[in-house]
Amino acid sequence: MSMLYEKNPLLQTTTKIVMMQDLNPYGNLFGGTLMGWMDQVALMLAVRYTRQHCVTAKFSEISFKEPVQLKDMVELLAKIVKVGTTSITIEITAYKLCFRCTEPTLVASATAVFVALNDEGRPEPIIAAPMFEVEN
Ligand SMILES: CC(C)(COP(=O)(O)OP(=O)(O)OC[C@H]1O[C@@H](n2cnc3c(N)ncnc32)[C@H](O)[C@@H]1OP(=O)(O)O)[C@@H](O)C(=O)NCCC(=O)NCCS
Repeated sequence: MSMLYEKNPLLQTTTKIVMMQDLNPYGNLFGGTLMGWMDQVALMLAVRYTRQHCVTAKFSEISFKEPVQLKDMVELLAKIVKVGTTSITIEITAYKLCFRCTEPTLVASATAVFVALNDEGRPEPIIAAPMFEVEN
């Protein structure tokens, strides 16, 4: 699945496995770690799409729907939903694949805005020619 998505410039996936250092005091995946993974997959997509430096301007609408356990695999999917003048809005979803499960379960979702920056760290117009139409 990942290889097919990554051929599409509007999508990016990555997969993690939950290790000891990723856990919260209750033994499940720490929410801050999952947020970091979601931020990273969206950043990968923003940079791959724009070929410019990008930073997170906003991270919102985050929901944690199911706990994630040690040894679970977490697949993260980022999708561009809007391209502005200097910003890109990306929806991110995370699914877990439990140790003995066959079907992924949705565990979290969020929306993030990334801004393309020039060498002075100021917003600059996105110059990438869109390869696919973005549905606004
Ligand atoms: C992101 C940053 C460059 C925006 O600078 P700014 O001067 O406020 O930018 P502007 O007002 O010119 O807005 C630029 C674009 O970003 C969008 N934007 C800025 N802040 C936003 C926010 N909080 N939510 C949604 N969009 C936002 C604007 O709508 C605009 O989009 P458009 O050009 O597509 O219309 C600046 O706030 C910054 O450097 N923040 C720190 C980023 C960072 O370090 N992130 C990592 C977190 S540790």
